[in-house]
Amino acid sequence: MKHQIILGIESSCDETSAALIKNNKILSHIIYSQDVHKIYGGVVPELASRSHQINIIPIINKTILLANINKNEINAVAFTRGPGLMGSLLVGASLAKSFAISLGIPIIGIHHEQAHILAHFINGIHKYPPKFPFLCLTVSGGHTKIVKVNDFFEMTVLGNTIDDTAGEAFDKIARICGLGYPGGQLINFYAKKGNPTKFCFSKPKVSGLNFSFSGLKTHILYFLEKKLKKDSNFIKNNIHDICASLQQTIIDILLEKIKLASLNFNIDRIVLSGGVSANTEFRKQFIQTALKQNMKPYILPFEYTKDNAAMIAMVGQLKCDRKLFDSLNITPCARYDLKSI
Ligand code: KG4
Ligand code: ZN
Repeated sequence: MKHQIILGIESSCDETSAALIKNNKILSHIIYSQDVHKIYGGVVPELASRSHQINIIPIINKTILLANINKNEINAVAFTRGPGLMGSLLVGASLAKSFAISLGIPIIGIHHEQAHILAHFINGIHKYPPKFPFLCLTVSGGHTKIVKVNDFFEMTVLGNTIDDTAGEAFDKIARICGLGYPGGQLINFYAKKGNPTKFCFSKPKVSGLNFSFSGLKTHILYFLEKKLKKDSNFIKNNIHDICASLQQTIIDILLEKIKLASLNFNIDRIVLSGGVSANTEFRKQFIQTALKQNMKPYILPFEYTKDNAAMIAMVGQLKCDRKLFDSLNITPCARYDLKSI
């Protein structure tokens, strides 16, 4: 099925995004990050779905315009089936169905986490995409996993978080520090001028390739409460060092596990995906660590790290090539295990 054009739609959380792809090459791509949540310090599900409703059609129209194609040239529509916020997923799924019905084209439901991983196959990102099998450390607000990718649609989850995700840790600690939303980005920003060894935060002892981040959040909460009793300006006066130290702790936890996975499975191709992989220090250290250990690192351009429709279109293309279409009865799944696909 060469030369097919696929429309990708992403609406799982707080990004409304559309992209068009042809021969694995992105023709156009728009990501709208909803800012309605800023004053609440986190994503408000009802506001997210309303914002998707308002923005999704203009975004799709603009994506078609930017690609300089006619909508009748689109051969299939791919949308995020889950996991994510049910109200937000429903907007993308309903729009995708209406679009497919009106143009008489097939529909393809996409697993969001699988798309974060397979984003690495978008044309132009890597001169040579990672060869199978490879290990993917995929880290976002919704998941933190190590996945062994045997083929496009053959993946094994080797490690998972047993409580919070790394993205949640960034977001919750940012809120504790009064930084607001989006937390990860703000911590990354303040950490740039901080000393990562100034404060020592404990790392969880989780066996194997699993992760845990809720203890770190509690540790920092108690640490700050104690410090604030002595100095009410402690956070304000130390924000750069607090951010740099906690960012380094999260990076150390993640890097330690991917190194262990590479050793255990004797696979030297390590791939980084997900919103947290936008963290500039994490990207740098991921590459440095890999090169030091003779591993081959792969990271994504910033545009494809956070939630985006290009990755949805990419998997849509791969499924379209294999005629893996869905019926119009397909429903979104708020909880959608990577193991179940
Ligand atoms: O992949 P993503 O956009 O959405 C989910 O699938 O969850 O990831 C969002 C997560 C949020 O937790 C956000 O704080 C985190 O990625 N994030 C970052 C950075 N940019 C986004 N974390 C650390 N440093 C960043 N620069
Ligand atoms: Zn995501």
